[in-house]
Amino acid sequence: MTSHVMNTYARQPVTLSHGKGVWLWDEDGNRYLDALAGIAVNGVGHGHPRLVAAIADQAARLIHTSNIYGIRHQETLADRLCALSGMNEVFFCSSGAEANEAAIKLARMHGHQKGIACPTIIVMEHAWHGRTIATLAATGSAKAQAGFGPMPEGFLRVPYNDLAALEAATNANPDIVAVLMEVLQGEGGIHVAGKAYVEGAAALCRDRGWLFMLDEVQSGIGRTGTWFGYQHFNVQPDVVTLAKGLGSGVPIGAAMTAGLAAGLFKPGNHGSTFGGGPLACRAAIETLSIMEDEGLLANAAERGEQIRTALGAMLADVNAVQAIRGMGLMIGIELDRPCGALVGIALKAGLLINVTRDNVVRLLPPLILSATEAHELVARLAQIIRAFASTPA
Ligand SMILES: Cc1ncc(COP(=O)(O)O)c(C=O)c1O
Repeated sequence: MTSHVMNTYARQPVTLSHGKGVWLWDEDGNRYLDALAGIAVNGVGHGHPRLVAAIADQAARLIHTSNIYGIRHQETLADRLCALSGMNEVFFCSSGAEANEAAIKLARMHGHQKGIACPTIIVMEHAWHGRTIATLAATGSAKAQAGFGPMPEGFLRVPYNDLAALEAATNANPDIVAVLMEVLQGEGGIHVAGKAYVEGAAALCRDRGWLFMLDEVQSGIGRTGTWFGYQHFNVQPDVVTLAKGLGSGVPIGAAMTAGLAAGLFKPGNHGSTFGGGPLACRAAIETLSIMEDEGLLANAAERGEQIRTALGAMLADVNAVQAIRGMGLMIGIELDRPCGALVGIALKAGLLINVTRDNVVRLLPPLILSATEAHELVARLAQIIRAFASTPA
């Protein structure tokens, strides 16, 4: 059958029709254990009754108005996010790339206010910040950028997790206004930054008057076992961007500001038609409440530990496995060979996973995953990886 959907994804040959908890069913009735959660989106799982009820109730009351008027749920959500993060203000949009666009504009405005005509933002190798033209320029993937040049100026790329390289590069450039990074790179292969690096980068920003900007689009909203990944470190950023898990699948993104970035945007500087609408904000508020009431931060930490430990034990004798790493329920298993084929193999075995950077199996299951379900996930995955590794590389 010819599809009229633009061919931008190499899709798996299934169409999912419904879900419950951590389980999904396709149109043929096959059941899958979801270890991907729509790429870190469905933290509270599929069909959570409280989320469904909140969305249905809000849809009946008010779906959309405009940011020209006050939006009560947007106010409430901003209060909740600031209380959880230590940030001051929130701009709402509808995706991670848009949240990072706001961060990039904030950094540039910060620079212009200091009299820097061509502000430069430091970004990292293998970073992922989105697919709009500016966020693509910030993203450290030649593959993603190919065919879309010229890239906008104003970004300086340095190796990730290398404080000496960061200091050296920054000493050479008087136009730097901000550092943008993930504390745990997701698309980049599940790499956790070291404590000395994150805290050193924050201190460097503070000393130089640069914005310390963290992309928590994938690592935020409880995924790593704390509300935000940076809360594993002793830092308070100037800008934090969010999306993915915030609305449990109802599109919403956010750029939160504090410190040097607080109060930079004034009316007319930035905006969004859909951003922070009543429906998306209600979904996000309910998501946060469910996470609190069901103890999902602790669960993410515990289940993550369980999965990494169990996989480590079951795959200890498989030489192809190079590393098992991550924080909370953001887990990577690095193999010594390209392993994209594992996605299809796992699908046939009723398990939804992802592979990033060609050779890293990525697990981002719903944060509601139970110990029994985590056990099931590990059993299925270990068997698949073992069999894959035993075939010639
Ligand atoms: C860290 C990070 N930032 C930004 C994005 C882009 O988010 P979106 O696809 O919602 O634009 C992603 C998406 O994978 C991401 O992982």
